[in-house]
Amino acid sequence: MKKFILIAAVAFFCFQKNAYSMSDAGCMQCHGDKNFYLRFPGIKQEGMYISPGGFSVSVHKGISCTQCHTTIQGYPHPAAVVTGKNDIPVMCSSCHRDVYEKYTQSIHWSAIKKGITAAPVCTDCHGTHGILKITNPGAKVYPENIPKTCSSCHDSVKLAQRYNLPLNRLTTYENSFHGIALKFGDLRAANCASCHGVHEILPSSDPRSSINKANLARTCGKCHPNATENFVKSRVHVVVSKHGEKGPYIVRVFYTWFIGILITLFVVYVVVDLINSRRKKKNGSKPS
Ligand code: HEC
Ligand code: HEC
Ligand code: HEC
Ligand code: HEC
Ligand code: HEC
Ligand code: HEC
Ligand code: HEC
Repeated sequence: MKKFILIAAVAFFCFQKNAYSMSDAGCMQCHGDKNFYLRFPGIKQEGMYISPGGFSVSVHKGISCTQCHTTIQGYPHPAAVVTGKNDIPVMCSSCHRDVYEKYTQSIHWSAIKKGITAAPVCTDCHGTHGILKITNPGAKVYPENIPKTCSSCHDSVKLAQRYNLPLNRLTTYENSFHGIALKFGDLRAANCASCHGVHEILPSSDPRSSINKANLARTCGKCHPNATENFVKSRVHVVVSKHGEKGPYIVRVFYTWFIGILITLFVVYVVVDLINSRRKKKNGSKPS
């Protein structure tokens, strides 16, 4: 009987191995081990340690490792499993087909296809193993966090120069009415994605773009139903500098000098007044 149970157990495990892929717990025996790098010396790649805590609270806690890592079913791993950046959207597409379809229309995907790896794929905006629900304030794409997520690239001088992109997207947004409102917690205010779209982002020159001149009335109109043509023209990304927007620049320079001179005159006035009153006091108290 004992023998039979042993054989049955072995058979069961063999069957398991052939019919099913390794369980998450199996993967985590190695990848959930903080000492991974000590156990497998010579492995340089970052991120081999997957925080069990992070994954278990993520939106994907219900799916298994191998549902995303479809080419890995156990250990040793197949030789060529290195995930290229351009493989990631396809990996997610098996469950998020609609998003994938939109994303593949975007400038970001066109850039990836051209080999511009600086452009974002799903994981740049959402994270990898710790993705949270979009309504979770900790999510990278929670409305209040979107400006920071986009600006990790769109406020980068290096990237702007390299790909000839306009700079100062974050600072100009933060100084705008919407930016200020969002900072004060008004989630109704427009964030980057409200105007640019989310997965189907296109440059303004593209007639399909939400920020193409012809489409602005509709884009702003989502929240400003009575938006006139002039209202829609009010600029969002106003770069106040000598080389940027001239009007606001002159006004700013004027006020800086005006207020500066005013304060100096005021200080001089106070000091002179103080000296005068001291002198008067001294003179008054002198026995004469
Ligand atoms: C929602 C899909 C998804 C799930 C579920 C998932 N992963 Fe990943 N994983 C990814 C993506 C995407 C990458 C590639 C990240 C990159 O290169 O930026 C990755 C990378 C990795 C890497 C390599 C790190 C690196 O920098 O290349 C390891 C190791 C890994 N995952 C292990 C796991 C384990 C273990 C589980 C289960 C607990 C798991 N993954 C679950 C999507 C997933
Ligand atoms: C016995 C330990 C061990 C187990 C179990 C294990 N891995 Fe790995 N994993 C490694 C090592 C070591 C590497 C480094 C590259 C290699 O050896 O292939 C690695 C690399 C990876 C990578 C990165 C591949 C790359 O180069 O981009 C992913 C993704 C990954 N493992 C996922 C998994 C998944 C999913 C499971 C469970 C089905 C799993 N691993 C089970 C040890 C393990
Ligand atoms: C440029 C940044 C960016 C990229 C790239 C991106 N997303 Fe998103 N994603 C967002 C933002 C922002 C939201 C939140 C939208 C909202 O609040 O309605 C979102 C929402 C989502 C949602 C939930 C809402 C929905 O529309 O179903 C899913 C699922 C999702 N993304 C998956 C993906 C996948 C899969 C990819 C890759 C094919 C991807 N995302 C690429 C920024 C991005
Ligand atoms: C095996 C199927 C599967 C794969 C593959 C997968 N997801 Fe998901 N994803 C889900 C499920 C199921 C949910 C919904 C969980 C819930 O509603 O609680 C989800 C939810 C999400 C959400 C949150 C949506 C919301 O409404 O808040 C985002 C963002 C997301 N996934 C991104 C990704 C990204 C990025 C990848 C690729 C790295 C990916 N997913 C791969 C099944 C998958
Ligand atoms: C990982 C970096 C990265 C992230 C994150 C990112 N982008 Fe981009 N974005 C790029 C790169 C690189 C290009 C240039 C692509 C090209 O020139 O082909 C680009 C192009 C654009 C363009 C077109 C610009 C032009 O002048 O052609 C817009 C608009 C844009 N992104 C908006 C956004 C918004 C909104 C977000 C956040 C929801 C975002 N991006 C997140 C890297 C990023
Ligand atoms: C209220 C709407 C609105 C918001 C919010 C907004 N933008 Fe814009 N954005 C525009 C419009 C309209 C243009 C085109 C005209 C211009 O350049 O001012 C533009 C231009 C851009 C461009 C150049 C694209 C091109 O093709 O000209 C980038 C990149 C960009 N914005 C990124 C961002 C980022 C990043 C954020 C968030 C920090 C953001 N935007 C917030 C409306 C908005
Ligand atoms: C996601 C919603 C949303 C979108 C899209 C949006 N806005 Fe706004 N906007 C707001 C909110 C909310 C306020 C604050 C209204 C208030 O408190 O009175 C505001 C305020 C403003 C203000 C200053 C106050 C006012 O009402 O005159 C201007 C100017 C403005 N938006 C311009 C634009 C332009 C131009 C666009 C399109 C490029 C745009 N908005 C798109 C939500 C949005």
